[in-house]
Amino acid sequence: MIVGVPVETYPSERRVALVPSVAADLAKAGLEVVVQQGAGEKAGFSDDSYQKVKARLVPDRTQLFSSADVILQVNPLNAQPGAGDDLELMRSGQIVLGLLNPFGAPQTAQKLAQRGVTAFALELLPRIGRAQSMDVLTSMATIAGYKAVLVAAGELNKFFPLMMTAAGTIRPSRVFVIGAGVAGLQAIATAHRLGALVQAYDVRPAVKEQVESLGAKFVELELKTEGSEGSGGYAEVMDEEFYRRQREMMARVVAESDVVITTAAVVGRKAPMLITEEAVQGMHPGSVIVDLAAEGGGNCELTRPGEKVEYKGVTILGPTDLPSTVAHHASQMYARNVAAFLHNLVKDGQLDLNLEDEVIRDTLLTHQGEVVHPQVRELLDQPAAAPANDERKTT
Ligand code: NAI
Repeated sequence: MIVGVPVETYPSERRVALVPSVAADLAKAGLEVVVQQGAGEKAGFSDDSYQKVKARLVPDRTQLFSSADVILQVNPLNAQPGAGDDLELMRSGQIVLGLLNPFGAPQTAQKLAQRGVTAFALELLPRIGRAQSMDVLTSMATIAGYKAVLVAAGELNKFFPLMMTAAGTIRPSRVFVIGAGVAGLQAIATAHRLGALVQAYDVRPAVKEQVESLGAKFVELELKTEGSEGSGGYAEVMDEEFYRRQREMMARVVAESDVVITTAAVVGRKAPMLITEEAVQGMHPGSVIVDLAAEGGGNCELTRPGEKVEYKGVTILGPTDLPSTVAHHASQMYARNVAAFLHNLVKDGQLDLNLEDEVIRDTLLTHQGEVVHPQVRELLDQPAAAPANDERKTT
């Protein structure tokens, strides 16, 4: 089986789906690796470094797609607006693995299905123990949480830590993290390491202990949070009255914070709006909001994805590509996740599409000319598919 790694085409993308050390592991497992020249360059992996681990370099994209059985990418096709469309280069029976934005771009899934491509959307991986080593979203959210704090510190006109100097004592900055999932917990840890006073809130009361173990204070709000936790550590959607009360109660904490980092997300839904324009008006001039949920609709009313908004002295950032700004390590983590997924999917050099394995079944987006993921079918107004065939298929 030949695994192909093309140059990423999404404009701000600096990551590569496979790094040389992981390419070497795949080769040991009997897979041949083909890399388009320059694929790793922006992430700091030279063509030479791939050649050293016996990956085959090809100069041209058409050649790469025609020789590979499996395409590994970060942002395949144009699932993210602005990325190149490689559909014409793909063939029936070919496999593609990557972040296919299944809920944001279901039409991409439809096109892949029509082309006969078997696609796996890594966003759909179940959050279960066995899939942890494959969990690309967790890896990328870890990076985003870390980098959000650095971005905020760079923007803030204050120090983060307590400073006792000959010019007097400077009080530490206050950081408020909303949503203590993967990105939130990493943001808390990073802000704490930089010396800020950190507070955090999450609708799932179970995370209080984790927040405190990272040296932050858990903000208690008088809200009924029963039913807020779904499976896999994900939050369930709450009703609008809950969000209204939450906004009101949190405005006080937002107002006293120098930095607010928002990460609140509910899978498959628009991000809850938790900071109103009025709450931003309550903040001190010079304060900074970093809204990690920008792409999913934003947690702050004033966020614009990918932009910097200045509002009455407050800076609101809605970065959407933070993992790509830490491209070297992001690629390393992504590659390890993807390789773990491949090891589970390929047995003895052949695709082993075991639909009884929930990791494979849940992640499968298109197969044999159909979009097979139930929620994505719904988005495309397609009737529910027949129950999954548990027969194993091999290429
Ligand atoms: P996660 O699901 O692990 O964490 C989200 C947290 O928000 C959960 O703990 C959940 O309980 C909490 N939450 C939900 N509703 C809430 C509410 N009303 N109030 C307070 N907390 C609430 O998600 P993860 O992986 O940490 O990602 C967080 C966000 O960061 C997502 O929107 C994700 O798309 C985004 N992200 C952004 C990147 C970027 O470059 N901007 C890169 C990677 C992820």
